[in-house]
Amino acid sequence: MSASGIYVHIPFCRSKCAYCDFVSVCEGEEKQRLYINALLREINTGRKIFDGVADTLHIGGGTPSCLYDGAVESIVGALGDSFDLRLAEFSVECNPDTFTPEKAEELKKAGVTRISLGVQSLDDGVLKKAGRRHDAATAMQAVRLAVKSGFDVSADLMIGLEGQREDDVDAFVGFMSREGVKHVSAYMLKVESGTPLARAVEKGLILPSDDDCAELYDRAVSRLKENGFCRYETSNFCKEGKVCRHNMKYWKMCDYLGFGVAAHGKLGRVRYYNDDDVDGYIRAVLQGTHAYRTEEVLDRDEELKEYVMLGLRLEDGVDVEEAERLFCIDFAERFSEGLKKAEKYVLYDGKNLRIRPEYALVANSVINMFV
Ligand SMILES: C[S@@+](CC[C@H](N)C(=O)[O-])C[C@H]1O[C@@H](n2cnc3c(N)ncnc32)[C@H](O)[C@@H]1O
Ligand code: SF4
Repeated sequence: MSASGIYVHIPFCRSKCAYCDFVSVCEGEEKQRLYINALLREINTGRKIFDGVADTLHIGGGTPSCLYDGAVESIVGALGDSFDLRLAEFSVECNPDTFTPEKAEELKKAGVTRISLGVQSLDDGVLKKAGRRHDAATAMQAVRLAVKSGFDVSADLMIGLEGQREDDVDAFVGFMSREGVKHVSAYMLKVESGTPLARAVEKGLILPSDDDCAELYDRAVSRLKENGFCRYETSNFCKEGKVCRHNMKYWKMCDYLGFGVAAHGKLGRVRYYNDDDVDGYIRAVLQGTHAYRTEEVLDRDEELKEYVMLGLRLEDGVDVEEAERLFCIDFAERFSEGLKKAEKYVLYDGKNLRIRPEYALVANSVINMFV
């Protein structure tokens, strides 16, 4: 059996970005300590449900780099006490404004190998309108610091931000490539309902149109390719050998454990979802109840659909022979309808089913034709 991954969610940020609907609150050290306390407790009980090997650890958020000093080390310590950790990749998501030389040193000492930096843009005007706390110079400094400190560095680029133009994409890719960044995640801005951004759009805020976004995305793809980054998933690009091993576990439906508020886990066909209320999570964990966690068992067909849905986002697509072996199906027969509907959008040679590169942007619509 392949090794599992571990995800830990840190629900704290210094301020809330208008577009963001990730689970995070703006709280200081006191609440952070209460939370980490509960988290360590949850990790400790995890050994009852998992006794295998974990080879990837991803601490995400929120903003893990805004945690008090020593918090990350205590998380790794608790994980090491409870599980057989043989980490080939240990990533932490950081924001440029809280990724200081002291933080870099602390994370290095804790065993972190990879930093995922939320740069988003290198245009000061765009960053300001997006409500980011950093400017381009701060982001560049953070990238250089992360590379110089010996981390594998991944940088997030957002596409479709207010006022964004193609020269921002060019500058971003050029800079990352020159500085030795080996991985880029390029996300299309999603206007999530209930966010301040969604309300602003309702009141008339103009964002780049769908056509503009498609052009920005195509520009990013071609600039990344010119600079030696291969796309291996709809939104993820890397230099050779620098695929994010942890995220690959989600897309390949391997097992993973999730700890913390709003975290998910998958163990075989069991999925669990932690509650997304920070105070409710702390209370329930400290009281020793599992009230913060919901479990479901996927049936075989749901699992197959998930397998196809995730596989279609990958550049290599769905491994048809693997799917047939795992799910005891005749792929062409089981998905005959989807294959007919999506004929124009996919490449299917009986071994792999993949979305044609020119339709990567409408991957979700193509996926819907199958599931
Ligand atoms: C969970 S966030 C955490 C990263 C970090 N706190 C930051 O903001 O820099 C991970 C990434 O998701 C992306 N993201 C967040 N909200 C988004 C949205 N509404 N649409 C598209 N991408 C989004 C951003 O690129 C962000 O860096
Ligand atoms: S810093 Fe990151 S996680 Fe926090 S609100 Fe902004 S985008 Fe969301």
